[in-house]
Amino acid sequence: MKKIAVFTSGGDSPGMNACLRAVVRTAVHHNIEVYGIRFGYEGMIDGDLVRMNAKSVANIIHRGGTILKTARSKRFLTLEGRTLAKATLEKNGIEGVVAIGGDGTFRGAVEFSKICAVPFVGCPGTIDNDLLGTDITIGYDTALNTVVEAVDKIRDTAESHSRVFVVEVMGRDSGLLALYGGIGVGAEGILIPESSQDLGNLVERLRQSRSDKHSKIILVAEGDETGGAMNVGQLIGEHFPDLDVRISVLGHIQRGGAPSCMERVNASRMGHAAVEALMQGRKQEMIGIKNNQVSFTPFEKAVKEHIVPDAGLLRMMEVLAH
Ligand code: F6P
Repeated sequence: MKKIAVFTSGGDSPGMNACLRAVVRTAVHHNIEVYGIRFGYEGMIDGDLVRMNAKSVANIIHRGGTILKTARSKRFLTLEGRTLAKATLEKNGIEGVVAIGGDGTFRGAVEFSKICAVPFVGCPGTIDNDLLGTDITIGYDTALNTVVEAVDKIRDTAESHSRVFVVEVMGRDSGLLALYGGIGVGAEGILIPESSQDLGNLVERLRQSRSDKHSKIILVAEGDETGGAMNVGQLIGEHFPDLDVRISVLGHIQRGGAPSCMERVNASRMGHAAVEALMQGRKQEMIGIKNNQVSFTPFEKAVKEHIVPDAGLLRMMEVLAH
């Protein structure tokens, strides 16, 4: 393998830059020419390639976002767009591609493989941690820490005013950010899409809650079937007219910021492994870290199912929140 390309795609996540750095530096180490494709699949369609070297990824390991930019490409969903992307790779003599992104990125790679033989290897970059085949995706740990930092601050107000705060966190249709973030902040309630009977249970637990408890924090995953924090807040207000309820939607602060140390380490391992995987002839696989070992999962499998959160964690949260 003499020439590879790397791109970031879909929602940005902290640690993407650390992964990119590892890809570029590993390629350079093996005397492989490496090109960065800007703006994800959009740049692949438009031929937006930049030559990268060890220096182009200097001082980025600690930076959030992605220096290569990213996009959610609608054009790549069309055969016309994918045909243009194929032409870009062929014109530039690209022999292998590292895709850093989430499930949309890997679904795109599967579709692309039907018309283009250039091997793709993926690194899971998403705060949602919703890919099968890895214990942790790049961005998840940092996003969790951001959630915890933000909600700890909200707790100060909740405690001072004796309020209930319903806090909505991201995760698309996965509840892992809400579940782990909720346990981390000592939440009184956690509503996630993977558990459908939790709202009635929450109301009941609020009713029975210790009378000397001043603040209550309820974390709601954006994909929960209740429809989000506004609906949950309204419902709590209807059941408990005496409670002072406030809503907070954390939003995109969860996607930004400097990656945590674990993020940097995991992202570096995955980026490094991705280049070596391409060199070994692997393709259409996502690199992951399972039980602290680098793992490989076919794209189709990685995007098919979510990690199912351990139901015991919700039960534990209820015990600990008393
Ligand atoms: O996949 C990451 C994520 O932040 C999800 O948690 C969220 O649902 C979505 O992206 C938001 O996407 P956008 O920034 O395109 O609105």
